[in-house]
Amino acid sequence: MRTPYYRYDLGLLDRTLAKIRECTEGHPNWHVHYAIKANANPTLLERIRKAGLGIDCVSGGEISKALENGFPATSIVFAGVGKADWEIDLALEKGIACFNVESQAELEVIIERCQALGRTAHIALRVNPNVDAHTHAGITTGLSENKFGIEIPMLEPIIRRAIECDCLVFEGLHFHIGSQILDMEPFMTLADRVNELQDNLEGKGIKLHSINVGGGLGVDYDNPEQNDMPCLESYFKVFEDRLKLRPGQQLHFELGRAVVAQCGRLITRVLYVKQGTVKKFAIVDAGFTELIRPAFYGAHHKIVNLSSDGPLEKYDVVGPICESSDTFEKDALLPEIRRGDLIAILTAGAYGETMASCYNCRPLPKSCFD
Ligand code: LLP
Repeated sequence: MRTPYYRYDLGLLDRTLAKIRECTEGHPNWHVHYAIKANANPTLLERIRKAGLGIDCVSGGEISKALENGFPATSIVFAGVGKADWEIDLALEKGIACFNVESQAELEVIIERCQALGRTAHIALRVNPNVDAHTHAGITTGLSENKFGIEIPMLEPIIRRAIECDCLVFEGLHFHIGSQILDMEPFMTLADRVNELQDNLEGKGIKLHSINVGGGLGVDYDNPEQNDMPCLESYFKVFEDRLKLRPGQQLHFELGRAVVAQCGRLITRVLYVKQGTVKKFAIVDAGFTELIRPAFYGAHHKIVNLSSDGPLEKYDVVGPICESSDTFEKDALLPEIRRGDLIAILTAGAYGETMASCYNCRPLPKSCFD
């Protein structure tokens, strides 16, 4: 197969899905929705669907993709700060489970579209809980300074508006504090914040049918070969132990990265080894067009030379795109690299293929499966 391409380990995906099932099966009121933004490859989606997960979408395109791949509309939740009218209409016509509404302005448009189409919308309000996830600034979402969700002091009148409106069914509240979170503390703070908020709202006569705690569980990018499973047990246990669910209340999760990150790697071939005065460059045939995370977030992905076990040397592993940011790693210590060597960039199953672009008129990457 022509490089670069994505290679997915379906066995590892299945083991990850089995672990999710093991952690959640004692809880019939828990629902895990896979955040399809992490990876929408149909082969992976089929496994994820068969494992019983629903879908978390953030666009009309994602809703269509989920439906095309056999996920029932009733398993789909729909978030996003900027839902276009056509996307709202699509979601209403298909009968998705729930809109996660991010502002009063959006709520008014959903009401308008429901009236125009003669439909009813199930809605949850996305709350900005002001919890610091201590993660990369580009992927934190739960702080007042972020654009996501409705801030707590502004929530009550919007809930009342949703409850009184005949074309809406008010389901409850939605939260998502950020992504690539490895420390359990921010999730504990989130659970505490949900409890406080729920007590407070109940005091005012407002009942919640469901709570959605979003996604965000991180994975080990530094030692993926030793640690290929996210800390699913500790993650689910935080909510099991701390969240005070009311009888009959439903709890939703939206995991993306934790489900697919470790099962995917980007395979690329070395085109040239170039010796500079201070650096040696390994120029590979993948660039930020295939995997943008290092260039965009300064993210680290472990790099492995699959073709050599020679002596270790230092290389800047760079791509062919005409931009200096097209660098996968600086000063990577790797077994001696030669032209033609195959290189694997690990932990690329989440936000790899889905964030690929055609910049420089490059073709989108293909994929294969083990
Ligand atoms: N739910 C909502 C509302 C979200 O915005 C996200 C991710 C998720 C769930 C899934 O989060 P996860 O479990 O994957 O952390 N492209 C970035 C990550 C962006 C995440 C955006 N929202 C990256 O490559 O790190």
